[in-house]
Amino acid sequence: MNVLEEVKKYKDYAVAMRREFHRHPELSWQETETAARIRRELDEMGIPYEEVVGTGTIATLKGKKDHPVIGLRCDIDALPIKEVKELPYRSENDGVMHACGHDGHISMLLTAAKVLSDHRDELNCTVKLIFQPAEEKTNGALKMLETGRVGHLDTVCGMHIFPFLDAGTISVDPGPRYTSAAFMNITIKGRSGHGAMPHYAVDPIYVGAKVVDALQSIASRETNAMDTVVVSICTFHSGTMANIFAETAELSGTVRTFNPELRKQLPGMIERIIKSTCEAYRADYEFDYYCDIPATINDEHCSEIAAGSVKKLLGEEGLMKYAGTPGGEDFSYFLERFPGVYAFVGCRNESKGCSYSLHHERFDLDEDALVNGAAFYVQYLLDAQEQF
Ligand code: NI
Repeated sequence: MNVLEEVKKYKDYAVAMRREFHRHPELSWQETETAARIRRELDEMGIPYEEVVGTGTIATLKGKKDHPVIGLRCDIDALPIKEVKELPYRSENDGVMHACGHDGHISMLLTAAKVLSDHRDELNCTVKLIFQPAEEKTNGALKMLETGRVGHLDTVCGMHIFPFLDAGTISVDPGPRYTSAAFMNITIKGRSGHGAMPHYAVDPIYVGAKVVDALQSIASRETNAMDTVVVSICTFHSGTMANIFAETAELSGTVRTFNPELRKQLPGMIERIIKSTCEAYRADYEFDYYCDIPATINDEHCSEIAAGSVKKLLGEEGLMKYAGTPGGEDFSYFLERFPGVYAFVGCRNESKGCSYSLHHERFDLDEDALVNGAAFYVQYLLDAQEQF
């Protein structure tokens, strides 16, 4: 089949679906209406599905052969951002917005499902369509996988609408795509007292400031300069008045790297610095390191297959090289278990006002990209079924 032509038949559907989801965004783990709408569409297509972890959905489309089993995954949640752009399909859920393009992801997977459903007797595989909740909370993928109901996948394909690449291009480079992403809460425990008499107190702000400073030595003095390492303290709260030492300071931050070995070592390095700095200045601490999702790393073989798929759809000039990016993505849990590929689907178009970054209150995407993404799901599946 000519995949691009088949997908183009459903362009109006893809746009309508994307706008519908855009109008009704829902936060992580609250995607009830979104999931219901996805399931209605699957019912219409006659594709059986099961509900997983509440708002997740796994649909199974059987082709002529049971194997290979190929997973196509999208995420479905929105963000707590107030949309400011005037659009006919602007968010109707005040303070919640599809600012990460997951509305487009759902639309692309449903559109791919339409085409695959039309051609099910041409498929030499089993397709699992995975609609994953709570990517933004970075725990939807793992929760779904832990149920065991995803089963074994011979290969898996995910994608993100990508405003850093022009619409009409796709990047499927092998190796690191997104860094790992961990978060931390640090409580510096001092001793409160009068601002005029520091000798009776242990000032948690002073100690916290030393900790913030010392943590930067990890990236600048402890790890290999060839490794990407980001250790950021992003909140620092303490104190009530200009002449009172607080009892505690609360800090929080995030940690990123592409290197899986370093990912394991980072919490230890960070705690060592917090512990010894606190000891040096007579303070105590609590350290909570959580939500440590792995880096998203594309399998080389799958990237090669995917590069061929992109060229078939968009020509040589449609295949873009793009270095990895220091964001987090919980599709990494799929790629830890199964060989697969994560694609960046260009959606930038300045002439349509679509040039804002993901998570921006004015984010919007060039809807022409929906066709490319949907077509890529289908083409990758057709190309991969011959290889596994
Ligand atoms: Ni996203």
